Amino acid sequence: MSAKIIDGKAFSAEVRARVGEQVARLKAAHGITPGLAVVLVGEDPASQVYVRNKGKQTVEAGMESFEHKLDADTSEAALLDLVARLNADPAVHGILVQLPLPGHMNADAVINAIDPAKDVDGFHISNVGLLATGQKAMVPCTPLGCLMMLRDQHGDLSGMNAVVVGRSNIVGKPMAQLLLRDSCTVTIAHSRTREIETVCRQADILVAAVGRPEMVTGDWIRPGATVIDVGINRVPAPEKGEGKHRLVGDVHFESASQVAGAITPVPGGVGPMTIACLLANTLTACCRANGLPEPEGLTA
Ligand code: GUN
Repeated sequence: MSAKIIDGKAFSAEVRARVGEQVARLKAAHGITPGLAVVLVGEDPASQVYVRNKGKQTVEAGMESFEHKLDADTSEAALLDLVARLNADPAVHGILVQLPLPGHMNADAVINAIDPAKDVDGFHISNVGLLATGQKAMVPCTPLGCLMMLRDQHGDLSGMNAVVVGRSNIVGKPMAQLLLRDSCTVTIAHSRTREIETVCRQADILVAAVGRPEMVTGDWIRPGATVIDVGINRVPAPEKGEGKHRLVGDVHFESASQVAGAITPVPGGVGPMTIACLLANTLTACCRANGLPEPEGLTA
């Protein structure tokens, strides 16, 4: 069997178009433009690329983009001062502080200084608690993107066996919470899980978010399962030339796609959904801040 390939590039474009339409309606009906502030500290090249893409797609969706670039040696106090100003700025509906932060900063302290209503990453401890208790939260973008893809594939997820491989605060844990909220039977597997292959083979939905290149192979997958690969790993590719690399996921695509019913590729699967969901979250935050109804089809 050969799996259906879930096209994250096309689906994320649809989500961004939906965001754009609702932003246009918000402007026309209420004169409100959602605004997203992105803060980048230092010059990590991967972070610079992310931030540039975020800014570009924010503007394309009709929103305001505010970029704040700070030197790597900026003090934590100065960053907290900027966060406080963004919290107080009514034109800013979403705040994202790009991670990782330089080593001299306490990332938890910075994230928890963001107004939870503007925390479009969903990393603030209040949002973590709201999600875990089934209340209205800001939901982390990557798991939200995975959930949207799964709902698009299956409609109702109720009663499905879901296995999440990985227990990070950014993906694994919130992913498990979202699947539980959609009435899946959820297992979180990780590096210490015994007989992890057997656990994974129970899954109707398998989400791989461990950061280990091609760890999940075809023999870990139940025939017909839906496989969502969150991993983005750069591995050496000598076949492309000396010093060259290629991107692979946490799933061994070649063997997995022979067994799965549907699978996300890397690149072009989950990756593009993250920024689309960031835009969706910014629109959601803006609607909530103005006492307007939630945007349609863009929330958990
Ligand atoms: N760095 C890499 N991905 C992310 C993300 O989704 N949010 C933040 N804040 N930093 C990141």
